[in-house]
Amino acid sequence: MTKTWSITVPGSTANLGPGFDSIGLALGLYLKLDVTLQDEWEFEHHSVHLPEKFTVEDHLVYTVAKEVAERFNAEVPSCKIVMTSELPLARGLGSSASAIVAGIEVANQVCDLKLTLEQKYTLASRIEGHPDNASASVCGGLTIGASLPNGDLELIHTQDVQAAFAVFIPNVELKTSEARKVLPAQYDKAYAVHASANANMLTAALLTKDYKRAGKFMEHDLFHEPFRANLIPNYHEIRQTAKDAGAYGTAISGAGPTVISLLTPQNVTAFVEKMKPLFPTYDIKAVHVDTKGVQVTVHETIK
Ligand code: HSE
Repeated sequence: MTKTWSITVPGSTANLGPGFDSIGLALGLYLKLDVTLQDEWEFEHHSVHLPEKFTVEDHLVYTVAKEVAERFNAEVPSCKIVMTSELPLARGLGSSASAIVAGIEVANQVCDLKLTLEQKYTLASRIEGHPDNASASVCGGLTIGASLPNGDLELIHTQDVQAAFAVFIPNVELKTSEARKVLPAQYDKAYAVHASANANMLTAALLTKDYKRAGKFMEHDLFHEPFRANLIPNYHEIRQTAKDAGAYGTAISGAGPTVISLLTPQNVTAFVEKMKPLFPTYDIKAVHVDTKGVQVTVHETIK
C-alpha cells in the first residue's frame, strides 16, 4: 500500500490597504502537493509558477517541515513531493506563506503531530514574520491578527465574506524584502493616529459587511501604500479606472506588485471583462474568497 497525502493551500492577499501586517484574506488560487514516503527526498515541480532550479536543502517546504518536526522532537522521513501552483511568485499573492503552511502540514501529516489550527497559524506566522498571509492560508476567509508583547498571536477569523475581488497581476516581480525597504522607520504621532483610525474603519467595515466603506478605507492607507506606490506599475491609473468601473476600492495586494479591487459579486465578471483591454499586459481575473484554508485528503493505493 502506498499512502499519499494531498495537501491544498490557498494563496492570499494581505493588508487590504491599512490592515498592514495584520489583515489577510484567503483567495481561491492554490498550491497543491502530493506527498508520499520514499527512500530519498525528491521534489517535482509541475507549474510555470514554480522554479525550475532548486535544491532540496533550500526548498522552503523542506526547511519548514524539518524545522517544525524538530520543534516537536520528531524527524520528517524522506518524501517525494509533487507540487503544482496557481500562485505566481513575488507578486503579492502569498506564495511564500502558502509554501510555509504547506511545509507545516507536511510535518503534521507525515509525523502525525496532530497540530491544532491555532498551532498551525501561530507557527506559520512566526516563520513568515507577520500573521496576515500565513493565517489566511491556514484558516481560509478573512483573518485579523496581532501579536501580544509575550509573542502570543491573537487571531480573529471569519469565513463570512460576501464580497468579490479582482486581481491585476503584472508581468513583473517585486520581492517583499525590497518593498519593505522603502517604508519609513518611524511615523509621526498624529500621522500614526490617523493611519490607525483608517485601519480601524477598514476592519469594522469588513466585519459589519459594509463593503462600500471597506473599499473606501482600502484606499486610505497611510502605513505603506504612499511609500510603495512608485514601485507598483500603473498604481494610480488602475485605482482610478477601477473606481470609474464600479469597484468599491483598490489596494496593493500584500507588498505588491499585484493590486486587488473589492467589488460586489454581481458586477465582478463584467468588471474584469472591462478591465482586460485597458490593461492588456496584466493577468486580470476574478478571485473568490477561499473559505476552507489548508486541506488534506489521504489516499491509499495498492502498489
Ligand atoms: N504585510 C506584508 C507587507 C505582506 O505588506 O509587507 C507581504 O509579506
